[in-house]
Amino acid sequence: MPSVLVLNGPNLNLLGTRKPEIYGSATLADVERLCRGTAEKLGLDVEFRQSNHEGQLIDWIQEEGPRVKAGESIGAVLNAGAFTHTSVALHDAIESVELPVIEVHISNVHRREPFRHHSYISPVATGIIVGLGIAGYGLAITALHGRAANG
Ligand code: DQA
Repeated sequence: MPSVLVLNGPNLNLLGTRKPEIYGSATLADVERLCRGTAEKLGLDVEFRQSNHEGQLIDWIQEEGPRVKAGESIGAVLNAGAFTHTSVALHDAIESVELPVIEVHISNVHRREPFRHHSYISPVATGIIVGLGIAGYGLAITALHGRAANG
C-alpha cells in the first residue's frame, strides 16, 4: 500500500490550545485521525509527523523524494507553520528531491499579518490549500491521491 507523508512544522503540536480563535479547537491528534480516515478510504498508509526543528523537516523531505520515485509514496502534505514564511532551506529541499507537496494552512494567511502573505513553499508546491481549517489536510491527501492516480 503506498503511503502519504503528513508533515507539521513548529508550534502545530500546540493545536487546540494555541489561539483557538484562529486555529480552532481541534488538536494535532484530531488532525491525525482525520488524515488516517481520509487515507484509509483511498487505500493509503499515513506517516504523520510534527517537528519544531527545521533540519528535521528537511531530513524527512529529503527521505521522501526517493520513496515517491520508487512508487512507495505519493508525496507530502506540508503545513510548515512559520517556516513557510522564512525557510529557503525547506524550499530548496522540496525542489532538490522533486517531492510532490500540497502546502496547507489551517488559517487564511492572506487575511492575517503581511509577514504571513509570502510563502517560500508555494513556488515549489504542487498545490496550496489555505484557510479551510483542518479539513484542508483531508482535501490535500485526496488531491495527492488524484494526482498519483492520473499520472
Ligand atoms: C499556519 C499559518 C502560519 O502563518 C503560522 O505560523 C502557523 C500555522 C496555519 O496553519 O494557518 O504556525 O501554517
